[in-house]
Amino acid sequence: MENKTVCFCKQVKYLDIKKAIEEGAKTVEDIKNATGAATGCGRCVSSIEEILKEK
Ligand code: FES
Repeated sequence: MENKTVCFCKQVKYLDIKKAIEEGAKTVEDIKNATGAATGCGRCVSSIEEILKEK
């Protein structure tokens, strides 16, 4: 998948999320702590959940 922006509030991109997952993030909460994504309006949470489900 291309490196699109997932979280617009914090300018966190797809590959930033994937990297956090590689480094051990397992939940949206982990992604928040690792990248700052989903700490603004919250509308990216469902996208992050989808990425967490990818293998
Ligand atoms: S788009 Fe991610 S918190 Fe607003």
